[in-house]
Amino acid sequence: MGPGCDRGVLFIVKASAPGKIILFGEHAVVYGRPALAVPITQVHADVEVLTSSRAGIWIDAPDINLRAELNTLPSDHPIASVIHNFLFLSRVSPFPNLEIKITSTIPVASGLGSGAAVTVALARALSSHLNHFMTDEEVNAFAYEIEKLHHGTPSGIDNTVVTYAKPVYFIKGQPIETFKVGQPFTIVIGDTGILAPTKESVADVRRLWMNDKSRWESVFDKIGEISFTARRAIEAGRSEILGELMNENHALLQKLTVSSPELDRFVEAARNAGATGAKLSGGGRGGNMIALVKPEGSEAVASALISAGAKRTLSTTVS
Ligand code: MEV
Repeated sequence: MGPGCDRGVLFIVKASAPGKIILFGEHAVVYGRPALAVPITQVHADVEVLTSSRAGIWIDAPDINLRAELNTLPSDHPIASVIHNFLFLSRVSPFPNLEIKITSTIPVASGLGSGAAVTVALARALSSHLNHFMTDEEVNAFAYEIEKLHHGTPSGIDNTVVTYAKPVYFIKGQPIETFKVGQPFTIVIGDTGILAPTKESVADVRRLWMNDKSRWESVFDKIGEISFTARRAIEAGRSEILGELMNENHALLQKLTVSSPELDRFVEAARNAGATGAKLSGGGRGGNMIALVKPEGSEAVASALISAGAKRTLSTTVS
């Protein structure tokens, strides 16, 4: 039973978590190099948990056409596995009767952290409803375990930025470091609409690396140096050099084979429309790309991306 909750009284808890974009360093971050990511609060996952008068744990996730009782779902179902793991962790007994409503404006499998955001929002809503307090650190560790179930060998950057909802300079296995943005800058995000599970591109990069470690380690080193330089530039308010760093980072991601014809076309279109630099963001092969723009140039870049085939664009100020 949750705080302030009497048996038989409807008790609702809500929690929300933002989307994210990786500014620099994806893939290399899996191999211990630094990466930079920021939350995107315009898109978010929202969870409501309420006591139910009927038996069971009922999940309603209209965005993915899911309406089911927990135990009718396979245990490795992405949402069911979060709830099972949470109930196991919190040692709640007997299982409560709940209605869980999940909605999200974060496109799935697009590099914007939708899976991590649903996990974090769900863990927070369940933890307050069931009176099982969790610190941010515990929520983050829980979400990382879930990411590992579904994504193979994730670095942990997605769950970290989504949990703390702050810009992070992330190195796998090290304490979280946030960074200050010296001067706000504007990013346009372009969605290819192509679903691209991160697990697959991460596994492909691992295969490359296994076949020629020294070659790919040097690519990861270069990406890591870009992330390091970018952090210093952002903190010093020198966003004008970020565009060139994005272009260099994109070229290295192309070498890693995680770009795609659509992503390359969007990156080119953004640059031609005045973006100072552009790159894919996240796992690649589809999903989203980002372009650094002057605030007054964001509309021109967004419309160039739409003309190049983007399903949607989003403009965001990193501050
Ligand atoms: C996915 O958002 C970022 C990758 O670097 C994978 C990871 O860090 O787990 C591609």
